Amino acid sequence: MILQIPNVLTVEQTVECRRLLESSAWIDGNATAGHQSRRAKHNLQLAENDPFAREIGSLIVGVLQENPLFVSAALPLKVFPPLFNRYEGGQNFGTHVDNAIRRSRVTGDQIRTDLSATLFFSDPDEYDGGELVIEDTFGVQQIKLTAGSMILYPASSLHHVTPVTGGTRLASFFWIQSMIRDDGCRSILFDMDTAIQRLAAADPLHTSVVQLTGVYHNLLRRWAEV
Ligand code: NI
Repeated sequence: MILQIPNVLTVEQTVECRRLLESSAWIDGNATAGHQSRRAKHNLQLAENDPFAREIGSLIVGVLQENPLFVSAALPLKVFPPLFNRYEGGQNFGTHVDNAIRRSRVTGDQIRTDLSATLFFSDPDEYDGGELVIEDTFGVQQIKLTAGSMILYPASSLHHVTPVTGGTRLASFFWIQSMIRDDGCRSILFDMDTAIQRLAAADPLHTSVVQLTGVYHNLLRRWAEV
């Protein structure tokens, strides 16, 4: 499942984060690259223990925990402390797959990367190129979202970032370990939750709302790892 989550951050939060990011100390992005992606990766990043990175990262994780669309779609167990990247002057990230297991240098915690997320901090009209291109079973998806919005996609997919030929592209990227490891099972639960919410809104007293909610939780009980 590839899902856009609009307005994860408010305009005010996005502006404040941008101010911090623009005054931060950027380093070579290969500091966090895996063996296979090192040759493909050409960008800048904030160090994992950078104080601004940790401040903005905590904000992102906090708002996501309160975001109903994110919680319903990701069913998160653990969220990796968000990382930050910057592309300009033709920088790009060639086709790669994200490492299956990642250990945070900040918390020492290890997670399985079920879902990848990119939260944009630059608006599409501020830079040329810089599309996040995801190879999905439905075909190739080209993603470029407004600042403050986020894309969630299977970490198992091949993906790349096209060269940024003008302007600067700022973004946060991180991973989620879901309570539901299998993307197909997670998609079923998301579809079901969405349908129950719609039914409950249209007809709150419909007896099927309770029964379907029971089925949802029984599937979750059957499939979830916590
Ligand atoms: Ni990646």
